[in-house]
Amino acid sequence: MVTEMSSSRPKIDPPRPAFDVERIRADFPALRQTVHGRPLVYLDNAASAQKPSRVIETVRRYYTDDYANVHRGLHYLSERASDAFEAARGKVRAFLNAREDREIVFVRGTTEAINLVASSFGQAHLKAGDEILITEMEHHSNIVPWQLLGERLGTVLKVAPVNDAGELLMDEFERLLGPRTRLVAVTHVSNALGTINPVERIIELAHARGARVLIDGAQSAPHAAVDVQALDCDFYAFSGHKLYGPTGIGALYGKRELLESMPPYQGGGEMIREVSFTRTTYAELPFKFEAGTPHIVGAIGLGAAIDYLREIGLDAVARHESELLDYATPRLREIPGLRLVGTAARKAGIASFLLDGVHTHDVGTILDRHGVAVRAGHHCTMPLMTRFGVSGTTRASFALYNTRAEIDVLVEAIRQAQELFRR
Ligand code: ALA
Repeated sequence: MVTEMSSSRPKIDPPRPAFDVERIRADFPALRQTVHGRPLVYLDNAASAQKPSRVIETVRRYYTDDYANVHRGLHYLSERASDAFEAARGKVRAFLNAREDREIVFVRGTTEAINLVASSFGQAHLKAGDEILITEMEHHSNIVPWQLLGERLGTVLKVAPVNDAGELLMDEFERLLGPRTRLVAVTHVSNALGTINPVERIIELAHARGARVLIDGAQSAPHAAVDVQALDCDFYAFSGHKLYGPTGIGALYGKRELLESMPPYQGGGEMIREVSFTRTTYAELPFKFEAGTPHIVGAIGLGAAIDYLREIGLDAVARHESELLDYATPRLREIPGLRLVGTAARKAGIASFLLDGVHTHDVGTILDRHGVAVRAGHHCTMPLMTRFGVSGTTRASFALYNTRAEIDVLVEAIRQAQELFRR
């Protein structure tokens, strides 16, 4: 998936062994279990991915041996924790190919990153009547923060539509990109449809009109190499838990001069230089945006997940998942009464579907009885579901550890769900 982007990434990763899915599966303890007496087939990766032993062990070791608060104490453990925390920031920087560590802000996840930009970029750079352009396929976390901002500042939200395949209508996007557009906020990969958006072109067009661009990378960062310098995006956000890392941690990349121009998002410890009751001055980047004790172990665990992914190689991951999608798509299409929702030409490893005569939640429940974990519902994209005239879909989403045999189990379980409702 998103393999086109990989060529722009600097060749800094060492040579690695060929992609071996069975060896990779052995790294994930959760995959060894049975559910309702069947081997677990975990296809809910777009919601959250399982964790490799490397991440679990890193988290355990940190709590056991190295635990202390960061950036505050002069004592040995605090220094060690601070070093590990900042090393993790360096890993995120390298992962995204950002220029500097201070362009990486640790946040709870993509949702917090977007809220940070809405609040802080909004306060510094937006006023009533300014427009923010999003797309019809955005997750609620890239819709609601802009609506909240609109209520506060009077900014206007514009929405570029998609076609029946779930592809962004670029002509419409260009038409909506007007003289008042200050920010384009767009998902790289749709969580509900799998569509890969042409973010390179979107960024080029937006910059030509003087608008800044935020990329929601929640569904792209775990699946293909991303290079924020090559993309030239202004902000890029992703979550650790979808990237085989811990929950409650993620990162916001922002161009340094932009982050410097923005006020703090939250006030508290760590984000200040000096505090008095009359005047407070703020810390340098990235600490200005990191009030309070951060999710120290989360960041360090995220660093371990990034090490793990880079050792396997994002290009190999992208290839594997793309092969899984190519294998799954015709098999799903062969099922009578199954309709795929999201059939874009450029698609990530996500298969959203409807089954004639069976409610999406019932499909999800029956699949679960077969040990197959999927998500059913609106996927936090209610406006997109409305666009397709459905209340929700059943969604299978692939990760680096999934196999063709698991897709066979999925297909068989769907057929059995259909049988059950035919009786
Ligand atoms: N955003 C996540 C999903 O698509 C939770 O399932």
